Amino acid sequence: MNPLIEIKNLTIDFVLNNGILRACDNVSFTINKGEIIGVIGESGSGKSTLASGILNLVQAPGKISSGEVYYYTENNEKVNLLKLNKNDLNNYRWSEISTVFQAAQNALNPVLRIEEHFLETVYAHTDKMSNEEILKKAEKVLSYVRLDKSVLEYYPHQLSGGMKQRVLIALSLILDPKVILLDEPTTALDVITQWYILDLLKQIHNDLGITLIFLTHDISVISGVIDRIAVMYAGEIVEYGKVEDVFNETSHPYTKGLLDAIPTLHDDITKRKAIPGSPPNLIQDFKECKFSPRCYMYLNEECDGDKKKTEALYKVNGNQCTRCYKYGELTSKEIVKEGA
Ligand SMILES: Nc1ncnc2c1ncn2[C@@H]1O[C@H](COP(=O)(O)OP(=O)(O)OP(=O)(O)O)[C@@H](O)[C@H]1O
Ligand code: SF4
Ligand SMILES: [Mg+2]
Repeated sequence: MNPLIEIKNLTIDFVLNNGILRACDNVSFTINKGEIIGVIGESGSGKSTLASGILNLVQAPGKISSGEVYYYTENNEKVNLLKLNKNDLNNYRWSEISTVFQAAQNALNPVLRIEEHFLETVYAHTDKMSNEEILKKAEKVLSYVRLDKSVLEYYPHQLSGGMKQRVLIALSLILDPKVILLDEPTTALDVITQWYILDLLKQIHNDLGITLIFLTHDISVISGVIDRIAVMYAGEIVEYGKVEDVFNETSHPYTKGLLDAIPTLHDDITKRKAIPGSPPNLIQDFKECKFSPRCYMYLNEECDGDKKKTEALYKVNGNQCTRCYKYGELTSKEIVKEGA
């Protein structure tokens, strides 16, 4: 598989009056060309911060404290997005990597018609297309999300939530990106519309070969669509791998907790178990495994939560990795430090 985006040791901090909040902690992860990736984790785990880091869009009081984000161009040139100046970065945004931001439906300007959103978006990134060309292309990308061209004449308030979300997906496609980052793309929508939009995205992925990165707290919605999954907890990736491997051989207690909490249609809801406790305050110098206060192994004194040992990832299967060093002991399976 050819890499498309390589995130290396990315650390993002928010410098606040009461301390430094580490929202992304030494994140390393590679996204390959043509994949559909799901980054999942509870609210506050750092998903949106990671997305803004990948795009070098972290705003004060946030800052990228360390790390690199490499983008591989069509000629296999490796470009560190964090080292580009504003203009060069603008050339990559939208035409190479585009985004559908969290709560994006509110991002549509209420006083602009949809066609003006397309024109403004394109002009912000290139001057190589005429109005006519942009609107022709807008009709085409709207058809990918099964919206009629008449929508171009509408104001945002004339569209339903699902239509707005589809307009935003169409907008993200206007400059033929190679990859789209979708931050909670379906969260505000009803279940039927969620499935409909995911189905559309899968179709767009199949037809255009675009790499998709979903960032969401809702594992149940995306699990049927993604190839690989990365699980985030308190700013760290705690487990990643092919979705079927992570589901069949879950190797981190946090992932297990997330999976145990998913309700299904045929399920007895009382059998679902929420993860005890709540995510930690990220303004602290962690002395033990970040998940330890909520981990049944730690609470049963079966693991000492040695922080040092959780600073590495361990290989479980082929490409599946876990941050839980206890997993090997539990399964009598040899797990090795990744890259060791
Ligand atoms: N502008 C900011 N100023 C201060 N802290 C911030 C800021 N943005 C995010 N954070 C903190 O960074 C951490 C990660 O937040 P982030 O929004 O990335 O989480 P998330 O996983 O996207 O959550 P959600 O599922 O609710 O969208 C949280 O502790 C949050 O409070
Ligand atoms: S390292 Fe220990 S405390 Fe941390 S998740 Fe694994 S078993 Fe739990
Ligand atoms: Mg978010």
